[in-house]
Amino acid sequence: MHIVHIAVEMAPIAKVGGLGDVVTSLSRAVQDLNHNVDIILPKYDCLNLSNVKDLQFHKSYFWSGTEIKVWHGKVEGLSVYFLEPQNGLFWVGCVYGRANDAERFGFFCHAALEFLLQNGSHPDIIHCHDWSSAPVAWLFKEQYTHYGLSKARVVFTIHNLEFGANLIGKAMAYADKATTVSPTYSREIAGNHAVATHLHKFHGIINGIDPDIWDPFNDNSIPVPYTAENVVEGKRASKEALQQKLGLKKADLPLVGVITRLTHQKGIHLIKHAIWRTLERGGQVVLLGSAPDHRIQNDFVNLANQLHSSHNDRARLCLAYDEPLSHMIYAGADFILVPSIFEPCGLTQLTAMRYGSIPIVRKTGGLYDTVFDVDNDKDRAQVQGLEPNGFSFDGADAGGVDYALNRAISAWYDGREWFNTLCKTVMEQDWSWNRPALDYLELYHAACKLE
Ligand code: ADP
Ligand code: GLC
Repeated sequence: MHIVHIAVEMAPIAKVGGLGDVVTSLSRAVQDLNHNVDIILPKYDCLNLSNVKDLQFHKSYFWSGTEIKVWHGKVEGLSVYFLEPQNGLFWVGCVYGRANDAERFGFFCHAALEFLLQNGSHPDIIHCHDWSSAPVAWLFKEQYTHYGLSKARVVFTIHNLEFGANLIGKAMAYADKATTVSPTYSREIAGNHAVATHLHKFHGIINGIDPDIWDPFNDNSIPVPYTAENVVEGKRASKEALQQKLGLKKADLPLVGVITRLTHQKGIHLIKHAIWRTLERGGQVVLLGSAPDHRIQNDFVNLANQLHSSHNDRARLCLAYDEPLSHMIYAGADFILVPSIFEPCGLTQLTAMRYGSIPIVRKTGGLYDTVFDVDNDKDRAQVQGLEPNGFSFDGADAGGVDYALNRAISAWYDGREWFNTLCKTVMEQDWSWNRPALDYLELYHAACKLE
């Protein structure tokens, strides 16, 4: 089967959040199952080109009065076509954040379909993602099905309904099949007007992570390679390296990590509360957060200054986007906190487990589907063939966070042997694409059978 993703993010060369991770890791998993996968991406001027291999000029064509240069290269072993419209739409130094983003990405979507046509491609599946490549669904159905692309079927994935619900609703109407990134989120948004009338073609498939990209046994950012077998030694060395790098007290204390975009979705008030509660309980906190909103950024700068005076040896807020540091935190933390207000899937709790860190999450969306509370979710975990793997809470208030965080920190202080076994257990769980990639293939095959 030939699958073409049309997307505006791709890890690690143009990643803003989990969408970029998913485009890369789902494609790799499907390619590993012997299918042919291409990705079409805008050629941003801010692409991280050091991670693109064999970049070559492929062709150029004119569309809508603009010359579009097409480049081809390999990223993480995947074939990627980069579209570079010579009108400069993607020479603006960022992926998102321009007033005309909808127009820029609309142009890209149309140009991508035109490229497939002019390139003589015959994909079976065109897979588009979120509001940013939603226009692919209706542009294809309205303008391209009578050409050589006629056998293609369109699959549309909702990663986050919060952005662009109208565009998403329109893509839902035109797509042959639609997915979102966890079963629970699919139920949570089933009543939304963008989704409600299309439930017959809508499926919740949980995301995975790429176990080769996230691999504590093969990670340049951490000091000692480790697997579940030597998780205790591996994480001890990683914690020391993290403390050393950030100038924290080098001590064996429970360390809570947070790696997140700092937006309303991620439960900002709960993150703040958890920082103070962890410090009260004698722990350490490391937050790595990127805030697109200046007010939130300033708020956290103030908090960082306050913590600098009161808890300089036990708290560090790193207000940046920093991939290598994220690896150090996944490895060096005991816990990764994800107290989201809503979370379509969430990848940080999965990556945490890959590195033997215990997730503490709010029970919503994909967090509910992947984290099973050690005290409350034995039965629910068993249905999935899993052991409980973390701590979770319901309420979106301080009491909720406390309920999970207090149990987690107490377990760390009082039952180190039990806690170490838990770290080993979570590392042994498989949160890769092994299973979800098969679900996508089944969906792709079902789409191909549609008239
Ligand atoms: P979302 O896409 O909603 O931001 P996900 O949990 O799906 O949330 O994915 C977030 C991805 O971005 C993860 O791979 C996480 O490690 C990464 N990430 C988030 N914030 C940062 C940051 N400040 N620095 C480095 N990586 C980050
Ligand atoms: C979105 C969601 C996140 C999900 C990611 C990848 O950014 O907020 O929950 O994991 O997409 O699907």
